Amino acid sequence: MGENRLCKLLGIKYPIIQGGMVWVSNWRLASACSDAGVLGTIGAGSMTVDLLRHNIEKMRETTSAPFAVNIPMLRPDAAELGKTALDMGVKIFITSAGNPANIVPLLKRDDTVLIHVIPSVRGAIKARKEGVDAVVCEGYEAGGHNSPLEITTLALTPQIADAVDIPVIAAGGIADGRGLAAVMALGADGAQIGTRFIATTECQAHENYKKLLVDAADSDTCIIGRKLSLLRVVRNDFAKRMEDAERNGADDKELMKIIGNEFNRNRAAAFDGETVEGAFQAGQSAGLVKDVIPVAELVRRIIAEYDQARTALGAL
Ligand SMILES: Cc1cc2nc3c(=O)[nH]c(=O)nc-3n(C[C@H](O)[C@H](O)[C@H](O)COP(=O)(O)O)c2cc1C
Repeated sequence: MGENRLCKLLGIKYPIIQGGMVWVSNWRLASACSDAGVLGTIGAGSMTVDLLRHNIEKMRETTSAPFAVNIPMLRPDAAELGKTALDMGVKIFITSAGNPANIVPLLKRDDTVLIHVIPSVRGAIKARKEGVDAVVCEGYEAGGHNSPLEITTLALTPQIADAVDIPVIAAGGIADGRGLAAVMALGADGAQIGTRFIATTECQAHENYKKLLVDAADSDTCIIGRKLSLLRVVRNDFAKRMEDAERNGADDKELMKIIGNEFNRNRAAAFDGETVEGAFQAGQSAGLVKDVIPVAELVRRIIAEYDQARTALGAL
């Protein structure tokens, strides 16, 4: 696997990226992932500049393996976060929710790798043209913010693999080795996994968050905020109120009133485990999460399942 072009580009053993996740992917999770042979990612989207600096320092103390910093470009201070990481010698960036034309000059250097998250073939071609090194193609199954295009990973991955000549990393709905094998068969060079990595010992998310994922069935996530900004979350009282209001044609003002303080809802989920009113971002793959285990064990399991899936397909 280390010979795969994505592994070579990133200097990792297995073609898996732990997705950057606001509130839940700090240095502890990222460091464990990097040590396990996949790409650990600090989710800078919910961090102050000082907190990001601290997280990068902790990464340096705890692992010598490559790691990335994820920066959602919607952050008004995205440039400052990026500059801080660059100045501290970070070499791999994963950006999302922004125009690659603005991001490339900001973060692409001769010695950096820039990966951009896109939800469409058009987005992939544009990112390639602007000079990113690889794209994450994220389907509608994914946890967290989602594209209004609503294209699923199964349909999106091969179309993007056909459209660009740079490495393609599939994301959304992948939680085990079968999913990894499936997207590799679709033409991807690797997978970015978010939701499954929350249910690990090293993830800082509250135990209730992890339990919600373990207990979740296939239909227990939903999209809220179609009129504002699409977000896939675990369906709880808060999410149900949003779904009902949206079904009944609520306008932006009414929806904003239900959401209240978004920062507090995310925080309540990740830090306080407030299962009724928190916003628990998670993907449809939550239904595949059955236990909370250490990252190293999870990675070993995914690779064993991947090998089994390949053998089973070969025997057909
Ligand atoms: C809790 C949570 C927070 C996320 N936050 C971010 C983020 O800050 N930036 C980003 O680019 N993607 C974010 N994502 C998307 C992940 O990086 C990843 O692409 C996605 O989780 C893959 O789909 P999966 O959840 O089905 O594995 C988030 C996902 C989750 C579940």
